[in-house]
Amino acid sequence: MSAAKKSKEPAFGEARKNGKCSRYPGFFKLDVTDRLDALDKWTNLSVKEKWMLKQETLTPELADLMVENAVGVFGMPLGLAVNFQINDKDYIVPMAIEETSVIAAASNAARLIRDQGKLTAEASDPIMIGQIQIVDSPDAEAAKTAILDKKDELLSLANSSDPVLVELNGGARDIEVRIIDSLSGPMVIVHLLVDTRDAMGANVVNTMAENLEPIVAELAGGEAVCRIVSNLSDRRMARARMALNVECLARGKYSGEEAARRIVKAYHFAEADPYRAATHNKGVMNGIDGILIATGNDWRAVEAGVHAYASRSGTYKPVSKYYLDGKGRLIGELEIPMAVGIIGGVTGIHPGVEILLKILNVSSSRELAQVTASAGLLQNFAALWSLATEGIQRGHMTLHARNVAVFAGAFGEMAIKVAKEMEKEGLVRYDRAKQILRKLLVREADENGTTPDPPDEK
Ligand code: MEV
Repeated sequence: MSAAKKSKEPAFGEARKNGKCSRYPGFFKLDVTDRLDALDKWTNLSVKEKWMLKQETLTPELADLMVENAVGVFGMPLGLAVNFQINDKDYIVPMAIEETSVIAAASNAARLIRDQGKLTAEASDPIMIGQIQIVDSPDAEAAKTAILDKKDELLSLANSSDPVLVELNGGARDIEVRIIDSLSGPMVIVHLLVDTRDAMGANVVNTMAENLEPIVAELAGGEAVCRIVSNLSDRRMARARMALNVECLARGKYSGEEAARRIVKAYHFAEADPYRAATHNKGVMNGIDGILIATGNDWRAVEAGVHAYASRSGTYKPVSKYYLDGKGRLIGELEIPMAVGIIGGVTGIHPGVEILLKILNVSSSRELAQVTASAGLLQNFAALWSLATEGIQRGHMTLHARNVAVFAGAFGEMAIKVAKEMEKEGLVRYDRAKQILRKLLVREADENGTTPDPPDEK
Protein backbone atom coordinates (compact mmCIF):
# COMPACT_ATOMS: atom_id res chain seq x y z
CA MET A 1 0.00 0.00 0.00
CA SER A 2 1.41 3.41 -0.84
CA ALA A 3 1.07 6.51 1.29
CA ALA A 4 -1.10 8.06 -1.40
CA LYS A 5 -4.67 8.78 -0.40
CA LYS A 6 -7.34 6.36 -1.55
CA SER A 7 -9.64 7.54 -4.29
CA LYS A 8 -11.82 10.56 -3.52
CA GLU A 9 -14.59 10.01 -1.03
CA PRO A 10 -18.21 11.01 -1.49
CA ALA A 11 -19.29 13.95 0.69
CA PHE A 12 -20.77 13.40 4.14
CA GLY A 13 -24.16 11.68 3.94
CA GLU A 14 -23.79 10.76 0.25
CA ALA A 15 -24.21 7.17 -0.85
CA ARG A 16 -21.17 4.92 -0.82
CA LYS A 17 -20.82 1.19 -1.29
CA ASN A 18 -22.52 0.11 1.96
CA GLY A 19 -24.72 2.98 3.07
CA LYS A 20 -23.74 6.60 3.54
CA CYS A 21 -20.41 8.35 3.95
CA SER A 22 -19.58 9.25 7.58
CA ARG A 23 -16.45 11.24 6.75
CA TYR A 24 -17.03 14.80 7.94
CA PRO A 25 -13.96 17.06 7.82
CA GLY A 26 -14.29 19.81 10.41
CA PHE A 27 -17.29 18.33 12.27
CA PHE A 28 -15.59 19.52 15.48
CA LYS A 29 -15.69 23.11 14.25
CA LEU A 30 -19.52 23.24 14.12
CA ASP A 31 -21.55 24.31 17.11
CA VAL A 32 -23.87 21.87 18.85
CA THR A 33 -26.98 22.88 16.88
CA ASP A 34 -25.17 22.75 13.55
CA ARG A 35 -23.78 19.31 14.35
CA LEU A 36 -27.30 18.07 15.03
CA ASP A 37 -28.53 19.70 11.83
CA ALA A 38 -25.69 18.12 9.85
CA LEU A 39 -27.17 14.76 10.86
CA ASP A 40 -30.08 15.44 8.51
CA LYS A 41 -27.80 14.15 5.77
CA TRP A 42 -27.12 10.99 7.78
CA THR A 43 -30.44 9.90 9.26
CA ASN A 44 -33.96 11.23 9.69
CA LEU A 45 -34.10 12.66 13.19
CA SER A 46 -37.22 14.64 14.03
CA VAL A 47 -36.99 18.15 15.46
CA LYS A 48 -38.12 16.68 18.78
CA GLU A 49 -35.41 14.00 18.72
CA LYS A 50 -32.72 16.60 18.07
CA TRP A 51 -34.12 18.77 20.82
CA MET A 52 -34.12 15.78 23.17
CA LEU A 53 -30.48 14.95 22.42
CA LYS A 54 -29.48 18.53 23.08
CA GLN A 55 -31.41 18.83 26.34
CA GLU A 56 -31.73 15.66 28.35
CA THR A 57 -33.38 12.55 27.03
CA LEU A 58 -34.14 10.93 30.37
CA THR A 59 -36.84 12.48 32.55
CA PRO A 60 -36.92 12.22 36.37
CA GLU A 61 -40.18 10.25 36.00
CA LEU A 62 -38.40 7.61 33.90
CA ALA A 63 -35.42 7.65 36.24
CA ASP A 64 -37.83 6.92 39.06
CA LEU A 65 -38.98 3.80 37.22
CA MET A 66 -35.41 2.68 36.60
CA VAL A 67 -33.81 2.97 40.03
CA GLU A 68 -34.86 3.20 43.64
CA ASN A 69 -34.94 6.45 45.59
CA ALA A 70 -34.45 8.49 42.41
CA VAL A 71 -34.01 12.20 42.95
CA GLY A 72 -33.14 13.27 39.41
CA VAL A 73 -31.08 12.65 36.32
CA PHE A 74 -27.31 13.02 36.05
CA GLY A 75 -26.08 14.54 32.79
CA MET A 76 -22.96 13.61 30.86
CA PRO A 77 -21.39 14.95 27.66
CA LEU A 78 -22.65 13.13 24.60
CA GLY A 79 -20.58 13.33 21.42
CA LEU A 80 -20.44 11.70 18.01
CA ALA A 81 -17.26 10.16 16.65
CA VAL A 82 -17.32 10.53 12.87
CA ASN A 83 -15.33 8.97 10.01
CA PHE A 84 -15.69 5.36 11.17
CA GLN A 85 -15.50 2.70 8.48
CA ILE A 86 -15.64 -0.93 9.61
CA ASN A 87 -15.92 -3.85 7.18
CA ASP A 88 -16.48 -1.24 4.47
CA LYS A 89 -19.56 0.21 6.15
CA ASP A 90 -19.53 3.76 7.51
CA TYR A 91 -20.66 4.62 11.02
CA ILE A 92 -21.22 7.63 13.23
CA VAL A 93 -20.51 6.43 16.74
CA PRO A 94 -22.23 8.04 19.75
CA MET A 95 -20.19 8.23 22.94
CA ALA A 96 -21.36 9.42 26.36
CA ILE A 97 -18.13 10.25 28.13
CA GLU A 98 -16.76 12.93 30.43
CA GLU A 99 -13.10 12.64 29.38
CA THR A 100 -11.68 15.19 26.95
CA SER A 101 -9.91 14.06 23.76
CA VAL A 102 -11.48 10.59 23.51
CA ILE A 103 -14.04 11.46 20.82
CA ALA A 104 -11.53 13.57 18.89
CA ALA A 105 -8.92 10.81 19.04
CA ALA A 106 -11.42 8.18 17.86
CA SER A 107 -12.57 10.38 14.96
CA ASN A 108 -8.98 11.19 13.94
CA ALA A 109 -7.83 7.59 14.10
CA ALA A 110 -10.92 6.52 12.13
CA ARG A 111 -10.13 9.13 9.46
CA LEU A 112 -6.53 8.02 9.21
CA ILE A 113 -7.43 4.37 8.86
CA ARG A 114 -10.14 4.89 6.28
CA ASP A 115 -7.66 6.99 4.24
CA GLN A 116 -4.53 4.94 4.75
CA GLY A 117 -5.50 1.48 5.87
CA LYS A 118 -8.32 -0.85 6.72
CA LEU A 119 -10.41 -1.68 9.76
CA THR A 120 -12.24 -4.98 9.96
CA ALA A 121 -14.17 -6.65 12.75
CA GLU A 122 -16.08 -9.82 13.51
CA ALA A 123 -18.19 -11.10 16.37
CA SER A 124 -19.14 -14.62 17.38
CA ASP A 125 -22.69 -15.82 17.96
CA PRO A 126 -24.18 -14.09 21.01
CA ILE A 127 -23.69 -16.96 23.44
CA MET A 128 -23.95 -16.14 27.14
CA ILE A 129 -23.07 -18.45 30.01
CA GLY A 130 -25.36 -19.06 32.98
CA GLN A 131 -23.76 -20.74 35.98
CA ILE A 132 -25.41 -23.08 38.48
CA GLN A 133 -23.25 -23.82 41.51
CA ILE A 134 -23.82 -27.17 43.22
CA VAL A 135 -22.18 -27.92 46.54
CA ASP A 136 -22.03 -30.99 48.77
CA SER A 137 -22.46 -33.45 45.95
CA PRO A 138 -21.28 -36.84 47.31
CA ASP A 139 -19.58 -37.77 44.03
CA ALA A 140 -18.74 -34.87 41.74
CA GLU A 141 -17.76 -37.05 38.76
CA ALA A 142 -21.00 -39.07 39.01
CA ALA A 143 -22.94 -35.78 39.29
CA LYS A 144 -21.29 -34.51 36.11
CA THR A 145 -22.23 -37.68 34.21
CA ALA A 146 -25.80 -37.62 35.52
CA ILE A 147 -26.27 -33.99 34.43
CA LEU A 148 -24.72 -34.49 30.98
CA ASP A 149 -26.88 -37.61 30.43
CA LYS A 150 -29.96 -35.41 30.85
CA LYS A 151 -28.65 -32.60 28.62
CA ASP A 152 -31.53 -32.71 26.10
CA GLU A 153 -34.22 -32.61 28.79
CA LEU A 154 -32.42 -29.79 30.59
CA LEU A 155 -32.11 -27.74 27.40
CA SER A 156 -35.81 -28.23 26.63
CA LEU A 157 -36.72 -27.18 30.14
CA ALA A 158 -34.54 -24.08 29.86
CA ASN A 159 -36.09 -23.17 26.51
CA SER A 160 -39.62 -23.61 27.80
CA SER A 161 -39.10 -20.47 29.91
CA ASP A 162 -38.53 -18.25 26.84
CA PRO A 163 -40.51 -19.35 23.76
CA VAL A 164 -40.10 -15.90 22.16
CA LEU A 165 -36.31 -16.21 22.18
CA VAL A 166 -36.60 -19.70 20.70
CA GLU A 167 -38.89 -18.37 17.98
CA LEU A 168 -36.18 -15.82 17.14
CA ASN A 169 -33.72 -18.72 16.67
CA GLY A 170 -32.08 -18.13 20.03
CA GLY A 171 -32.32 -20.15 23.22
CA ALA A 172 -30.37 -22.66 25.29
CA ARG A 173 -27.75 -24.36 23.12
CA ASP A 174 -25.58 -26.53 25.31
CA ILE A 175 -24.66 -27.61 28.81
CA GLU A 176 -21.15 -28.07 30.14
CA VAL A 177 -20.13 -29.26 33.57
CA ARG A 178 -16.94 -28.31 35.40
CA ILE A 179 -15.66 -29.59 38.71
CA ILE A 180 -13.70 -26.99 40.60
CA ASP A 181 -11.80 -27.04 43.87
CA SER A 182 -12.83 -24.37 46.32
CA LEU A 183 -12.40 -23.33 49.94
CA SER A 184 -15.48 -25.45 50.68
CA GLY A 185 -14.21 -28.46 48.75
CA PRO A 186 -15.14 -29.68 45.27
CA MET A 187 -18.04 -27.99 43.54
CA VAL A 188 -20.00 -29.01 40.46
CA ILE A 189 -20.48 -26.00 38.24
CA VAL A 190 -23.00 -26.28 35.44
CA HIS A 191 -22.66 -23.91 32.50
CA LEU A 192 -25.79 -23.29 30.50
CA LEU A 193 -24.90 -21.78 27.12
CA VAL A 194 -27.66 -19.57 25.74
CA ASP A 195 -27.87 -17.77 22.42
CA THR A 196 -29.50 -14.50 23.46
CA ARG A 197 -29.72 -13.05 19.94
CA ASP A 198 -29.97 -9.24 20.02
CA ALA A 199 -30.37 -8.95 23.79
CA MET A 200 -27.47 -8.73 26.21
CA GLY A 201 -29.36 -11.55 27.83
CA ALA A 202 -28.51 -11.49 31.55
CA ASN A 203 -32.20 -11.67 32.50
CA VAL A 204 -33.08 -14.55 30.26
CA VAL A 205 -30.00 -16.51 31.33
CA ASN A 206 -30.69 -15.90 35.02
CA THR A 207 -34.30 -17.08 34.60
CA MET A 208 -33.23 -20.22 32.78
CA ALA A 209 -30.54 -20.99 35.36
CA GLU A 210 -33.03 -20.57 38.21
CA ASN A 211 -35.53 -22.85 36.44
CA LEU A 212 -32.94 -25.59 36.00
CA GLU A 213 -31.65 -25.38 39.53
CA PRO A 214 -33.94 -27.91 41.32
CA ILE A 215 -33.50 -30.67 38.75
CA VAL A 216 -29.75 -30.08 38.41
CA ALA A 217 -29.31 -30.17 42.20
CA GLU A 218 -31.31 -33.39 42.36
CA LEU A 219 -29.27 -35.02 39.58
CA ALA A 220 -26.07 -34.04 41.40
CA GLY A 221 -27.39 -35.12 44.80
CA GLY A 222 -26.20 -31.77 46.14
CA GLU A 223 -27.42 -28.32 46.97
CA ALA A 224 -27.58 -25.36 44.58
CA VAL A 225 -26.24 -22.01 45.75
CA CYS A 226 -25.73 -19.38 42.98
CA ARG A 227 -27.67 -19.33 39.69
CA ILE A 228 -26.41 -16.39 37.72
CA VAL A 229 -25.00 -15.21 34.41
CA SER A 230 -21.19 -15.15 34.09
CA ASN A 231 -19.72 -11.83 33.02
CA LEU A 232 -16.68 -13.62 31.67
CA SER A 233 -18.65 -14.04 28.46
CA ASP A 234 -15.84 -15.70 26.52
CA ARG A 235 -18.30 -17.42 24.17
CA ARG A 236 -19.43 -14.02 22.98
CA MET A 237 -16.28 -12.57 21.51
CA ALA A 238 -15.59 -9.54 19.34
CA ARG A 239 -12.43 -9.05 17.31
CA ALA A 240 -11.13 -6.01 15.47
CA ARG A 241 -8.12 -5.66 13.22
CA MET A 242 -6.49 -2.57 11.74
CA ALA A 243 -3.81 -2.38 9.09
CA LEU A 244 -2.21 1.00 8.58
CA ASN A 245 0.44 2.28 6.26
CA VAL A 246 3.34 3.22 8.56
CA GLU A 247 4.32 6.23 6.46
CA CYS A 248 1.30 8.15 7.66
CA LEU A 249 2.37 7.75 11.30
CA ALA A 250 5.15 10.36 11.10
CA ARG A 251 4.77 12.75 14.00
CA GLY A 252 7.07 15.34 15.55
CA LYS A 253 10.67 14.23 15.16
CA TYR A 254 9.74 10.65 14.30
CA SER A 255 9.36 9.22 10.82
CA GLY A 256 6.34 6.99 10.22
CA GLU A 257 8.45 3.88 10.46
CA GLU A 258 10.05 5.02 13.72
CA ALA A 259 6.68 5.91 15.20
CA ALA A 260 5.31 2.48 14.21
CA ARG A 261 8.28 0.72 15.84
CA ARG A 262 7.78 2.76 18.99
CA ILE A 263 4.07 1.83 19.04
CA VAL A 264 5.04 -1.84 18.87
CA LYS A 265 7.51 -1.28 21.74
CA ALA A 266 4.78 0.43 23.76
CA TYR A 267 2.66 -2.69 23.26
CA HIS A 268 5.59 -4.90 24.32
CA PHE A 269 5.78 -2.87 27.54
CA ALA A 270 2.10 -3.64 28.26
CA GLU A 271 2.63 -7.29 27.35
CA ALA A 272 5.46 -7.57 29.89
CA ASP A 273 4.07 -5.48 32.75
CA PRO A 274 0.59 -5.62 34.36
CA TYR A 275 1.04 -2.05 35.69
CA ARG A 276 1.25 -0.82 32.12
CA ALA A 277 -1.29 -3.38 30.80
CA ALA A 278 -3.95 -1.92 33.11
CA THR A 279 -3.46 1.55 31.60
CA HIS A 280 -3.20 0.15 28.07
CA ASN A 281 -6.55 -1.62 28.57
CA LYS A 282 -8.02 1.50 30.16
CA GLY A 283 -7.26 3.24 26.87
CA VAL A 284 -9.12 0.45 25.04
CA MET A 285 -12.12 0.87 27.35
CA ASN A 286 -12.06 4.64 26.73
CA GLY A 287 -13.31 3.86 23.25
CA ILE A 288 -15.87 1.32 24.41
CA ASP A 289 -17.54 2.50 27.62
CA GLY A 290 -18.94 5.68 26.08
CA ILE A 291 -20.67 3.64 23.37
CA LEU A 292 -22.00 1.20 25.94
CA ILE A 293 -23.48 4.03 27.98
CA ALA A 294 -24.93 5.76 24.91
CA THR A 295 -26.56 2.51 23.78
CA GLY A 296 -27.97 1.64 27.20
CA ASN A 297 -25.66 -1.30 27.75
CA ASP A 298 -24.28 -2.61 31.04
CA TRP A 299 -20.74 -1.28 30.89
CA ARG A 300 -19.83 -2.80 34.26
CA ALA A 301 -20.60 -6.23 32.80
CA VAL A 302 -18.39 -5.61 29.77
CA GLU A 303 -15.60 -4.12 31.90
CA ALA A 304 -15.69 -7.15 34.22
CA GLY A 305 -15.57 -9.51 31.25
CA VAL A 306 -12.73 -7.72 29.51
CA HIS A 307 -10.52 -7.58 32.59
CA ALA A 308 -11.24 -11.21 33.52
CA TYR A 309 -10.36 -12.18 29.94
CA ALA A 310 -7.18 -10.12 30.15
CA SER A 311 -6.17 -12.24 33.16
CA ARG A 312 -6.99 -15.63 31.68
CA SER A 313 -3.34 -16.75 31.57
CA GLY A 314 -2.96 -16.03 35.29
CA THR A 315 -1.20 -12.72 34.58
CA TYR A 316 -3.00 -9.54 33.55
CA LYS A 317 -2.26 -8.85 29.86
CA PRO A 318 -3.17 -6.25 27.24
CA VAL A 319 -6.26 -7.15 25.19
CA SER A 320 -4.74 -5.77 22.01
CA LYS A 321 -1.47 -6.37 20.23
CA TYR A 322 0.60 -4.56 17.59
CA TYR A 323 3.22 -5.71 15.09
CA LEU A 324 4.75 -4.74 11.77
CA ASP A 325 3.79 -7.02 8.92
CA GLY A 326 7.02 -6.59 6.93
CA LYS A 327 5.05 -4.94 4.10
CA GLY A 328 5.16 -1.42 5.49
CA ARG A 329 2.04 -1.75 7.61
CA LEU A 330 1.36 -1.55 11.30
CA ILE A 331 -1.14 -4.20 12.35
CA GLY A 332 -3.28 -3.82 15.46
CA GLU A 333 -5.54 -6.60 16.74
CA LEU A 334 -7.96 -6.71 19.61
CA GLU A 335 -9.97 -9.57 21.05
CA ILE A 336 -12.44 -9.18 23.90
CA PRO A 337 -15.65 -10.65 25.27
CA MET A 338 -18.46 -8.30 24.30
CA ALA A 339 -21.87 -8.90 25.86
CA VAL A 340 -23.99 -6.14 24.36
CA GLY A 341 -27.57 -5.88 23.19
CA ILE A 342 -29.74 -3.63 21.09
CA ILE A 343 -33.05 -4.76 22.60
CA GLY A 344 -34.31 -5.28 26.15
CA GLY A 345 -33.11 -3.76 29.40
CA VAL A 346 -32.35 -0.05 29.41
CA THR A 347 -32.26 -0.01 25.59
CA GLY A 348 -36.05 -0.30 25.65
CA ILE A 349 -36.63 2.34 28.32
CA HIS A 350 -34.19 5.20 27.77
CA PRO A 351 -35.53 7.47 25.00
CA GLY A 352 -32.01 8.68 24.16
CA VAL A 353 -30.84 5.16 23.39
CA GLU A 354 -33.45 4.75 20.68
CA ILE A 355 -32.28 7.95 18.98
CA LEU A 356 -28.60 7.09 19.31
CA LEU A 357 -29.11 3.58 17.96
CA LYS A 358 -30.78 5.18 14.96
CA ILE A 359 -27.63 7.26 14.41
CA LEU A 360 -25.35 4.27 14.97
CA ASN A 361 -27.39 2.23 12.52
CA VAL A 362 -26.52 -1.30 13.63
CA SER A 363 -28.96 -4.10 12.94
CA SER A 364 -27.84 -6.72 15.47
CA SER A 365 -26.03 -7.17 18.77
CA ARG A 366 -23.18 -8.73 16.79
CA GLU A 367 -22.80 -5.61 14.68
CA LEU A 368 -22.79 -3.46 17.82
CA ALA A 369 -20.09 -5.75 19.25
CA GLN A 370 -18.01 -5.19 16.11
CA VAL A 371 -18.35 -1.42 16.40
CA THR A 372 -17.39 -1.38 20.09
CA ALA A 373 -14.35 -3.61 19.51
CA SER A 374 -13.26 -1.40 16.60
CA ALA A 375 -13.66 1.78 18.64
CA GLY A 376 -11.66 0.20 21.48
CA LEU A 377 -8.85 -0.69 19.10
CA LEU A 378 -8.80 2.74 17.44
CA GLN A 379 -8.80 4.51 20.78
CA ASN A 380 -5.98 2.33 22.04
CA PHE A 381 -4.00 2.88 18.85
CA ALA A 382 -4.51 6.66 19.09
CA ALA A 383 -3.25 6.66 22.70
CA LEU A 384 -0.17 4.56 21.84
CA TRP A 385 0.61 6.76 18.85
CA SER A 386 0.59 9.84 21.08
CA LEU A 387 2.50 8.15 23.89
CA ALA A 388 5.12 6.81 21.51
CA THR A 389 5.68 10.19 19.84
CA GLU A 390 4.84 13.60 21.26
CA GLY A 391 3.30 12.41 24.55
CA ILE A 392 -0.29 12.47 25.67
CA GLN A 393 -0.49 15.89 27.31
CA ARG A 394 -0.19 17.96 24.19
CA GLY A 395 -3.40 16.68 22.66
CA HIS A 396 -5.21 17.03 25.98
CA MET A 397 -4.03 20.55 26.55
CA THR A 398 -6.60 22.59 24.62
CA LEU A 399 -9.65 21.09 26.25
CA HIS A 400 -7.96 20.78 29.60
CA ALA A 401 -7.05 24.48 29.44
CA ARG A 402 -10.68 25.30 28.64
CA ASN A 403 -11.89 23.25 31.61
CA VAL A 404 -9.43 24.99 33.92
CA ALA A 405 -10.55 28.38 32.57
CA VAL A 406 -14.21 27.52 33.23
CA PHE A 407 -13.31 26.29 36.70
CA ALA A 408 -11.62 29.63 37.37
CA GLY A 409 -14.86 31.44 36.50
CA ALA A 410 -14.58 32.19 32.76
CA PHE A 411 -17.34 31.22 30.37
CA GLY A 412 -18.13 31.32 26.64
CA GLU A 413 -15.68 33.30 24.51
CA MET A 414 -13.81 34.44 27.60
CA ALA A 415 -13.03 30.82 28.56
CA ILE A 416 -11.54 30.27 25.10
CA LYS A 417 -9.40 33.42 25.39
CA VAL A 418 -8.12 32.45 28.85
CA ALA A 419 -7.39 28.91 27.67
CA LYS A 420 -5.51 30.15 24.58
CA GLU A 421 -3.34 32.42 26.67
CA MET A 422 -2.47 29.64 29.10
CA GLU A 423 -1.65 27.34 26.21
CA LYS A 424 0.60 29.98 24.66
CA GLU A 425 2.45 30.31 27.95
CA GLY A 426 2.58 26.53 28.36
CA LEU A 427 1.22 26.91 31.91
CA VAL A 428 -2.26 25.50 32.48
CA ARG A 429 -3.10 26.11 36.11
CA TYR A 430 -6.09 27.31 38.10
CA ASP A 431 -4.23 30.24 39.73
CA ARG A 432 -2.86 31.37 36.37
CA ALA A 433 -6.33 31.08 34.78
CA LYS A 434 -7.71 33.37 37.47
CA GLN A 435 -4.96 35.95 36.90
CA ILE A 436 -5.49 35.94 33.13
CA LEU A 437 -9.25 36.12 33.53
CA ARG A 438 -8.96 39.13 35.85
CA LYS A 439 -6.61 40.85 33.42
CA LEU A 440 -8.92 40.23 30.46
CA LEU A 441 -11.99 41.36 32.40
CA VAL A 442 -10.25 44.58 33.40
CA ARG A 443 -9.16 45.19 29.82
CA GLU A 444 -12.68 44.54 28.54
CA ALA A 445 -14.17 46.85 31.19
CA ASP A 446 -11.66 49.59 30.27
CA GLU A 447 -12.67 49.29 26.64
CA ASN A 448 -16.39 49.47 27.54
CA GLY A 449 -15.96 52.10 30.26
CA THR A 450 -17.51 49.79 32.92
CA THR A 451 -16.39 48.16 36.18
CA PRO A 452 -15.30 44.51 35.81
CA ASP A 453 -17.46 41.83 37.45
CA PRO A 454 -15.48 39.65 39.86
CA PRO A 455 -14.94 36.16 38.39
CA ASP A 456 -17.62 33.74 39.47
CA GLU A 457 -15.36 31.14 41.08
CA LYS A 458 -16.43 27.53 41.27
C1 MEV B 1 -6.12 8.00 29.39
O1 MEV B 1 -7.49 8.07 29.67
C2 MEV B 1 -5.78 6.73 28.65
C3 MEV B 1 -4.30 6.47 28.41
O2 MEV B 1 -3.62 6.50 29.66
C4 MEV B 1 -4.17 5.12 27.75
C5 MEV B 1 -2.76 4.63 27.61
O3 MEV B 1 -1.89 5.05 28.38
O4 MEV B 1 -2.54 3.78 26.73
C6 MEV B 1 -3.69 7.55 27.56
